[in-house]
Amino acid sequence: MPDRRKFLTRAGYTTLSALLTMGFLQKDKQKEDYSINTIAANSTRMNVNSPLREVAAAKGKRYGAAISGEFLQTDKDYANLIARECSIATPNGELKWNATEPQPGKFTFESADAIANFCQKHNIELHGHTLFWHTGNPDWVSYPPTFEMIERHVKGVMGHYRNSKVLKSWDIANEIIADNENETDNATYGLRKGVKPELIRDLFKIAASVDSSKKFYLNDFGIEGATWKSDRFLKMVEYLKNNGAKIDGAGIQSHLWFSTAYPFDEKGFNSVLKRLNDLEVKPIITELDIIIDTPLPDSIKKLDQMVADSYKRYLDLCFAANVDTVITWGLTDRHTWIRHPDWMPAKFRGNPSNQRFLRPLPFDENLQPKSARNAISQAFQQAT
Ligand code: G3I
Repeated sequence: MPDRRKFLTRAGYTTLSALLTMGFLQKDKQKEDYSINTIAANSTRMNVNSPLREVAAAKGKRYGAAISGEFLQTDKDYANLIARECSIATPNGELKWNATEPQPGKFTFESADAIANFCQKHNIELHGHTLFWHTGNPDWVSYPPTFEMIERHVKGVMGHYRNSKVLKSWDIANEIIADNENETDNATYGLRKGVKPELIRDLFKIAASVDSSKKFYLNDFGIEGATWKSDRFLKMVEYLKNNGAKIDGAGIQSHLWFSTAYPFDEKGFNSVLKRLNDLEVKPIITELDIIIDTPLPDSIKKLDQMVADSYKRYLDLCFAANVDTVITWGLTDRHTWIRHPDWMPAKFRGNPSNQRFLRPLPFDENLQPKSARNAISQAFQQAT
């Protein structure tokens, strides 16, 4: 196996101790003008301390994170950090079916509206996630849902946010492609069992009939390389384009594992990005976080550097292919899903001493910036 370390570029970060003095938890930035033009004029002043939202905006790009309504309320330092760093946010669960339509036809938007209000207050765009998924559904919803269920749900949820000042885009469908050929009954598009391409086309059409002013995405994981799954995903995007659906972009989730024991498929990932650009379907990064797979290094410092190098390497590829939006799945290791007992990868769950190496996000559990944050900043600053 090739030693992947030689492929990792150094992120060139300043020390944590210097960063700790720079007031990362200070807020009151929301009154500043974050418009892209203003930031672009100031781009020469960007440095490693600048909020990621500003560094991104200087290049006409957006940086954001998945955010949790519960933690926005209970963890003020976390809320301040989100406001400081993000120009776009995805609700972690507040727009999923079980949150918005827990009973048939009975819609509740309290928790999603609280997130939307937070975003409006802090000039953060909201990415709507998601209208159709095999998980996060109330028990009464089948998978796939019937056409009638879908129509009522999409009209209810999208209709509620039709005039929203912050919600500008939707993951219309999430994770519809199976992981492998054993989990599909549709060889061409690789859709999860029971899902027909026509149903997804109709879902996109219903969405366009409710609110075509928003950007529509098909979102999935495991498509960051030339794989069975990415091939089916791209075919499905093409099918939607060719069959009258409005599809503006592809959400590449990017829950990534890097390792010195196996290579990252850079060439394959470039080909996915190229094909999306050729189809005029905009690739955006919607759920980025990074796990370092075994063999693990002998210190957290080295691990953090490997995570940072992996961020830099991945984002360099993205920015070379016109990606303008990067959303990490959370902002801080304090609240990452990867450390949650329900979601922790089996390999780490069975090995408590390795769990401290699960440090997938730009800020650590004390909300202090890690080298990953600086790598993201540097990637934005070097983007053309
Ligand atoms: O709301 C309760 C909360 O009141 C309680 O304190 C807590 C105790 O653990 O449970 C909370 O509900 C959990 C919820 O996350 C909020 O933390 C659910 O049990 C849990 O199932 C839910 O998991 C989320 C999962 O999607 C299912 O909705 C994860 O946090 C979230 O990170 C994950 O996100 C998905 C994306 O939508 C799609 N791509 C993959 C990504 C990661 O799995």
